[in-house]
Amino acid sequence: MAEELLTAPRTQNEAKEADFLPIRAIDHLEFIVGNAKQSAYFYRSAMGFKLTGYAGLETGVRDRASYVLEQGKIRFVLTTPLVPDHPYQEHLRQHGDGVKDISLEVKDVESAYRETTKRGAIGVQEPREVTDAHGTYRTAVIRTYGDTLHTFVDRKDYRGFAPGFKTITSEDTIARSCGLAAVDHIVGNVGWNQMNDWVKWYEEVMGFHVFVSFDDKDISTEYSALMSKVVASGSEKIKFPINEPATGRKKSQIEEYIEWYNGPGVQHIALATVNIIEAVGKLSQQGVEFLRVPSTYYRDLQDRVGKINEPIEELERLGILVDRDDDGYMLQIFTKPVEDRPTVFFEIIQRRGARSFGKGNFKALFESIEREQALRGNL
Ligand code: FE2
Repeated sequence: MAEELLTAPRTQNEAKEADFLPIRAIDHLEFIVGNAKQSAYFYRSAMGFKLTGYAGLETGVRDRASYVLEQGKIRFVLTTPLVPDHPYQEHLRQHGDGVKDISLEVKDVESAYRETTKRGAIGVQEPREVTDAHGTYRTAVIRTYGDTLHTFVDRKDYRGFAPGFKTITSEDTIARSCGLAAVDHIVGNVGWNQMNDWVKWYEEVMGFHVFVSFDDKDISTEYSALMSKVVASGSEKIKFPINEPATGRKKSQIEEYIEWYNGPGVQHIALATVNIIEAVGKLSQQGVEFLRVPSTYYRDLQDRVGKINEPIEELERLGILVDRDDDGYMLQIFTKPVEDRPTVFFEIIQRRGARSFGKGNFKALFESIEREQALRGNL
């Protein structure tokens, strides 16, 4: 099912990727949070994730607690440091709750580390093998924008999530699935004039290519602007849009993020579903807060996007946005930030052919974000 959500591979690019960094999938995202036990409750009861693993005092891990949450092919790990000198404490102090690691599954950790560091990646952890009763688990870590990491994982000889974790197989009575199936893209915010450097980094170090780019004419309102380029892995299974602020009359949402995250970091994670009406219906009912656009958005929707399968009244009721490109259309909606700082949020997306990112919605959306920024005194 989730297969349909992924863009068809481009063979010429696949060949290019195979040169030095074949990535099988996004393995997981690790969030550092202040209270993983309570955050896990939000991801289970509101977002629909199932608890599948745990590490902490009870599993012999003395310095942190981690919860593994899964829905479809999406895997999140929420971690809270337990001791004052744990290196994650500084991340928490600087950034609040946020994404520490975009972990990528590879066939060969050794080669992924060697090839990327050779091309300029900063190594954080050299290739390491841990063997326990469940097999052998291999990782290596490099650094990307801000304090964010890419951990390369090879789990072919390992059963379970990772050493130190117990697998939870019992039914999760708190989890209320919303049909979220896969990660569609993960967006990073970087500082002024840093976008091109990071795009170049993904091209040179990771073998990615530019998939699409937007300038401040595409993404601006009366008040604020931003620039964005999307880099994709060779197979185009993995897409990382990179944003930087652009000059506007007032503070852009990217500046607000950089200010409150205290530097570059992951801005939003787009989660794909094959039934956005059902997914957003459940998420809303379960307490997830979404950005709203004015009802005028829906007045000329039909003219703008042509014929779509979903009833427009339903889309309006839930606040779902629609955009069309040459390949089809897509439906999307954005949550409000999911922590107290105005930083990380989620996008829920359903693609019906379209491979783009909702350019036609940028203006309505950013005006909606600006109304929220104004409420926070950050515009
Ligand atoms: Fe997005």
